Amino acid sequence: MEMWQSSKHGQLFASAQTKEQAPTCVTCHMPSGTHDTGLGLTLGNVGNGSVIEPEKPVVKMRIITAQEAERQRKLMIQTCLPCHSSRFATENLEKADAIKKEADAVLGEAVKIITQLESEGLLQRKTTPADMAHGRKPEPVAKASLVLGADQVYDGLSEIEQRFYEMFKLHHASTFKGAYHQNPMFTHNEGFLHLKKDLTYIQNQAAELRRRAKER
Ligand code: HEC
Ligand code: HEC
Repeated sequence: MEMWQSSKHGQLFASAQTKEQAPTCVTCHMPSGTHDTGLGLTLGNVGNGSVIEPEKPVVKMRIITAQEAERQRKLMIQTCLPCHSSRFATENLEKADAIKKEADAVLGEAVKIITQLESEGLLQRKTTPADMAHGRKPEPVAKASLVLGADQVYDGLSEIEQRFYEMFKLHHASTFKGAYHQNPMFTHNEGFLHLKKDLTYIQNQAAELRRRAKER
């Protein structure tokens, strides 16, 4: 809602209050009165949980075929055509696709670092003395000791995992959802800027954990 409101489309709607000039949610997501709000979404209904082939997911995500993505994209572009050329709309959405991929890549860097730390035994979840004695407690649903992404819990984690949670849930999502809603403020200031800060924090923490491990 906020992404749309502060985008050019939302600002225009706020000043003109007419759907003839500025698209609202319904223009793009419920065209011709459809109630299928997933219509035209290449990433499906839960955007932070999918990638389009041939991209490989860096955490657990749905994989959507290139044909399905293309089919959905054509439907979305139809909604832009009353106001924009198909070239303008296509190019803009392709830019957003590129931003989504770049955001996935930053996330992937963090996953690599955290997975490596875990395999070196540097990411113990030290909530109780018993945990410390027996190593890491398995995550209750996934039954794995390290869970990153959609199934991740947000408490009882090491600082580095907690930061990843914010990275995935908030900053990764703001980056690409901002881009798909033509909102550079969300894409950058609320999104990519923080993604890069998260990655830097994780890199620094990793170095610090290794330094401390050497001292032990
Ligand atoms: C100009 C067209 C346009 C408008 C207006 C618009 N959206 Fe979107 N929306 C998109 C596009 C494009 C995507 C990404 C589609 C894809 O996955 O390829 C998207 C994706 C989404 C998603 C899926 C991402 C996710 O979290 O799973 C949601 C939810 C959403 N929009 C909600 C809204 C809401 C609520 C509004 C109004 C406040 C709105 N949109 C206005 C074009 C629009
Ligand atoms: C009801 C008309 C309408 C529809 C539908 C619409 N737009 Fe727009 N859009 C506008 C208007 C008007 C502007 C402002 C043009 C200007 O700046 O002169 C705009 C601006 C934009 C901008 C420029 C944003 C900026 O910050 O400069 C992009 C990108 C854009 N639209 C993409 C899309 C895409 C993609 C779709 C379809 C998913 C879409 N629009 C659907 C009317 C529409």
